[in-house]
Amino acid sequence: MTRAVDIVVIGSGVAGLSAALGLAATRDVLVISAGDGSTPWAQGGVAAAYGGDDPLDHAHDTDVAGAGFCDPRNVRALVEEGPQRLAELIAHGARFDRNADGSLSRTLEGGHGRPRVVHAGGDATGAEVHRALRSAVQLAGVETLHGRTVGLVKSDAGRVVGVLVETGGEVTQIDARAVVLATGGIGNAYLASTNPSSVRGDGIALALRAGASLVDMEFVQFHPTALFTGDTSGQLPLVTEAVRGEGAVLRDAEGRRIMAGRHPRADLAPRDVVARAIDATMRRDGSSHVWLDATGIAAEVLRERFPTVLASCARIGVDLVSEQIPVAPAEHFLCGGVRTDRDGATDVPGLYAVGEVAATGVHGANRLASNSLLEGLVFGRRVATTLTLDLPVAIAGRSRELLLDEDREPERIRAILTKYAGIRRDGAGLNAAVDELDALGNGPLATVARSVVVAAAARRDSRGCHWRSDYPGVDERWNEHLVVRLDEDGRPAVRQLLPSGTC
Ligand code: SIN
Repeated sequence: MTRAVDIVVIGSGVAGLSAALGLAATRDVLVISAGDGSTPWAQGGVAAAYGGDDPLDHAHDTDVAGAGFCDPRNVRALVEEGPQRLAELIAHGARFDRNADGSLSRTLEGGHGRPRVVHAGGDATGAEVHRALRSAVQLAGVETLHGRTVGLVKSDAGRVVGVLVETGGEVTQIDARAVVLATGGIGNAYLASTNPSSVRGDGIALALRAGASLVDMEFVQFHPTALFTGDTSGQLPLVTEAVRGEGAVLRDAEGRRIMAGRHPRADLAPRDVVARAIDATMRRDGSSHVWLDATGIAAEVLRERFPTVLASCARIGVDLVSEQIPVAPAEHFLCGGVRTDRDGATDVPGLYAVGEVAATGVHGANRLASNSLLEGLVFGRRVATTLTLDLPVAIAGRSRELLLDEDREPERIRAILTKYAGIRRDGAGLNAAVDELDALGNGPLATVARSVVVAAAARRDSRGCHWRSDYPGVDERWNEHLVVRLDEDGRPAVRQLLPSGTC
């Protein structure tokens, strides 16, 4: 069965819905959804320079968190267009928390020099952003098809001209003049992540198979504080950084402050710094978690601001108000991804990417807290504007189906990536990971895992969230971005270096 639309958007998180909403008035757009992704789980908020705040200060904090490895022009687009996108979201009905005088309530998170993170429902910001966008997209008449995209269709002239979607065991071809990947991150390629299980990097595998390039794949961010539930696999509950923004501190088993003296911003250092400090503490003490102490914060503040965290804690029998809670880092966000320009175009005609699956360089080597919902809003709109002004013309001709392979032994792939490409990496482990993955085929999880490990093995220095114990410092000779493409055997390999700032 075949059908045709102007534009297919793969993914129904903040980036995909923003793109669909921006296109709805002028284009026949279809959203394909395999699950709502990470957006509804985002807690902290949306960072945006409002009121007396200066977007350039936000840009500065973004670049410092990104270890100076961000693309400055794209960061500027992010911070300057962000407040307007947020205002539009509010006009679409998103209800953010407000102060008594009606102004937006703003909180602090790691890496921010001032409170600029707006939030909703206390710590349920992603759910509210998602609700508002979904209802706006529905009102605009956009159709959503629930299914998994298992392949792309490419014309002989090299354009992406459609998708193959599996619904109820049947594969349907949908022809399109442009395809927008908005499939989110790679959480489920690791054993444990803050992402839901539908987030497994399919967009990365689809893009590679179509001939697109990836960049910055070694920069996988670990959130410092997932709730330690005793589970070592699956989706772990997040404990938003905003709890530390309100004054909570990290402690080791002896009750000593972990972050004191380690960074001028202590518990509010950028999250790569905090995650590494926790990892080092856990290794030193042979423990599976550390403690987050929010007992110094007034009970009414905790109840109003963090109902989601309180409920997660209650489920494992701990009380955020009166006791320390166990936390440990978990995979959270892919800073790299499919290489795009500022308007979402990949290097394959007809194929676009936005949100976490895309790499525009705005996150550099480590994403600043609460810049991810913002990225989805800003770059989702940018791709919509591009495709409104300039939709490729459909040209009849022969085409090829590029179907993803089946994954072999997914649990083994997850275990390999978790063991060798976590917070702390080294060359021997990464090379072992490449060898072990070679035996596991070219399915999407293996492709994603290999993309991360080949980039991490190639980068012989440490910066942002890529930390090599055998190359522990920044080495200026590695001031380049690593580009990954498929080799002759259909396996991801590092193919090119790009100067810093030209991601
Ligand atoms: C958090 O609330 O700590 C997570 C927000 C983010 O990933 O930026």
